[in-house]
Amino acid sequence: MTEVLRVDSDNPDPNAIERAAACLRRGGLVAFPTETVYGLGVHALDREAVLRLFRAKGRPANDPLIVHVSTIDDVAPLVTELSPDAYALAARFWPGPLTIVVRRSRAVPDEVTAGLGTVGIRVPSHPVARALISAAGIPIAAPSANLFSRPSPTDATHVIADLNDRIDMVVDGGPTEVGVESTVVDLSQGLPVILRPGAVGLDMLRAVLPKIDLRKSTTTQPSAAQRSPGLMSKHYAPRAPVTVYEGDAEAALSAMARDALALVGGGKRVALLAFAEDVARLVDLPVRLVHLGSERDTADVAARLYAALRECDDLGAEAVLARIVTTQHALSAAVRDRLHRAATRIIDVGTGGAR
Ligand code: TXA
Ligand code: MG
Repeated sequence: MTEVLRVDSDNPDPNAIERAAACLRRGGLVAFPTETVYGLGVHALDREAVLRLFRAKGRPANDPLIVHVSTIDDVAPLVTELSPDAYALAARFWPGPLTIVVRRSRAVPDEVTAGLGTVGIRVPSHPVARALISAAGIPIAAPSANLFSRPSPTDATHVIADLNDRIDMVVDGGPTEVGVESTVVDLSQGLPVILRPGAVGLDMLRAVLPKIDLRKSTTTQPSAAQRSPGLMSKHYAPRAPVTVYEGDAEAALSAMARDALALVGGGKRVALLAFAEDVARLVDLPVRLVHLGSERDTADVAARLYAALRECDDLGAEAVLARIVTTQHALSAAVRDRLHRAATRIIDVGTGGAR
C-alpha cells in the first residue's frame, strides 16, 4: 500500500516531512507537490532506487530525470562548472519553475541522465518540496508522478490513481499552483535554448539572456502533425484520442461542433474541453463539457488543464476535442505545447471564417 501523508501546503508538519525524507534516504519512492506538478522523488545518487523509479512509472530509460536541490549551493557537486548564464538564470528564477540543463559531473549516475553528458537541475519553490529536499539532505531526482504518457498529476488523487501500490509514499499538499511542468532551458550547447515552455516564459528569459530562443521542433508544428500524426510524441495524454483546433475562435468552434456531431453519430462518447466563453455555444450538443475556465485567464487554464484531461478519461470519453487560445501570458505557449503533445490530430482552421 502507498502511504498518504497529508500536510499543510504552506507549513508542513516537520514530523511528516522527516518520515518522507527518511524514506527517500533509504532509496524509497516518494511523491510530493511542487509549484508545477507532483514529482516522484528518489535519491538521485542511488542507482538501484532510480531504476525502481523508472519501473514504477513505466518510463523508457532514454528519458532523463530532473535533479531537485534546495539551493544553488547544492548544485556544485552535480556539475562540471556553472557558467555566468547559469548563475544569472538561477539568481533570477530560483526557487521556481525553471530547469537548467548543464554539463554534469561524474557524481550523477547515468541512470538519472539517460547516459547524457548533461543534467537538468531545478530548485523548486513549493514549501513542501523545499522542506522535503532540505530534510532529506540529498539531491532528489523527480519526474512528474504519473504513469508514463499520462497527464502529469496536479493533485495527490492523480498520483494515487496512477501509482497506488507502485510507490512508497505520497506527501499530499493539495493541488499544485502552476499546473504544467517547469520551463526547461538547455545551457550546455552554444546558444541557450528553451526545450520545454513553462511558467518562466520566453520574454522573461530574454530579459536575462537576450540570445535565448525556442527549440525548433517538428513535432509541434501543426502542418507536420497533420501530415503524419503517428510521428507526434504522444505525451501528457488522456486515453482517448485528442483533436485540437487552432486559429479563429468562431471557426474553431464551428469545426469542433461539426466534428463532435459526426463522432456522436458514429456512436462515440465525446468530451469537449470548453472555455467559459464557449459554453453557451456548445451546451446543447450531445457531448460532455469539461470546463477549462475563462480563455482570458491563462494561468487558470494551465492550472486546470491536466485535471481536465484526466476528467475526460473518468467520463469514459472515446474522443476529446479542444480549442487552443493564444494570449500574451507566459503560460500560453506552455498550454499550447502540452495540448499539441496530447493531440493525435491538429486542425488549423485559419484566421477567419468557418471551413
Ligand atoms: O516541473 C517539473 O519539471 C516537474 C517537477 C516534478 O519538477 N518534473 C518534470 O519531470 O516534469 P519529467 O521527468 O516529467 O520531465 C523532465 C524532462 C525530460 O523529459 C526531458 O525532456 C527534460 O526534462 N530533461 C531532463 N534532463 C535533461 C537533460 N539532461 N537534457 C535535456 N533534457 C532534459
Ligand atoms: Mg513527465
